Amino acid sequence: MRLQGKTALVTGSTSGIGQAIAEAFAREGANIVVSGRDEQRGKAVVEKIRATGGSATFVFADLSSKAEVDRLADEAVRVFGQIDILVNNAGAVTFGPTAQVDEPTFDTLFNTNVKAPYYLSAALAPHMAERGAGKIINITSMAAHIGMSGLALFGATKAALTQLTKSWVAEFAHSGVNVNAIAPGPTLTPANETAGAAFIDQITSTLPAGRAASPSEIADAAVYLASPESNFVHGITLHVDGGRTAV
Ligand SMILES: NC(=O)c1ccc[n+]([C@@H]2O[C@H](COP(=O)([O-])OP(=O)(O)OC[C@H]3O[C@@H](n4cnc5c(N)ncnc54)[C@H](OP(=O)(O)O)[C@@H]3O)[C@@H](O)[C@H]2O)c1
Repeated sequence: MRLQGKTALVTGSTSGIGQAIAEAFAREGANIVVSGRDEQRGKAVVEKIRATGGSATFVFADLSSKAEVDRLADEAVRVFGQIDILVNNAGAVTFGPTAQVDEPTFDTLFNTNVKAPYYLSAALAPHMAERGAGKIINITSMAAHIGMSGLALFGATKAALTQLTKSWVAEFAHSGVNVNAIAPGPTLTPANETAGAAFIDQITSTLPAGRAASPSEIADAAVYLASPESNFVHGITLHVDGGRTAV
């Protein structure tokens, strides 16, 4: 088991990619803090992990404010004593023309996708640095690396998180903390249901692999970046996008 004895906080692990990451980390022996706003789904994920012999606890958090982010960091540390692995996965998305994005939507995307990872990492990375070890994995997107009509705002938030990934390497790598990103392509999760099948089919048709990812395929990449096998890997974006950004 590659993550035996480690403790991981996975934001947005009540659904989709985050849930798959939480379950994969638990199978590798990590203690998991499952987090999100939906307590019922969060507790179901915890039960699923425990049913297979894993260790997990749910901590509610709405990541739209710094106060809630700070509270999540404190509670997550209190549950298992320390956080060794932080996965900044929770994300908000909107699909559509730039001119149709209202200000509350703009603020929701930047608060969830940039401000929350920023302050969560600010709260937890210094403790990892003091211990001389830690892993931070930022879930970005293919949309941070190519221009995609209908995803301008979303892509901008994920491009900001890509840059934070590199800046945190400069700040924390010398202290033994690995900071990396995973940029998924279209992945079969509830987030995409709001986009409509036609939009997702259109994006998927542009992938060399010719299909969308399953959440577990993103989780496999996260296990690598959380494990000792990636200890000399700093600041990469692992593109798990069926080859889309390669061609
Ligand atoms: N699916 C894709 O095709 C795709 C592609 C590229 C990148 N991504 C990225 O992958 C990550 C996971 O996406 P997904 O597809 O798995 O989405 P999902 O199934 O909709 O899950 C999103 C998760 O984020 C949490 N979340 C959203 N807003 C939150 C808030 N304000 N406070 C706390 N938690 C919040 C949700 O928790 P609650 O429901 O409990 O509130 C949920 O667990 C996101 O960062 C997304 O941008 C996804």
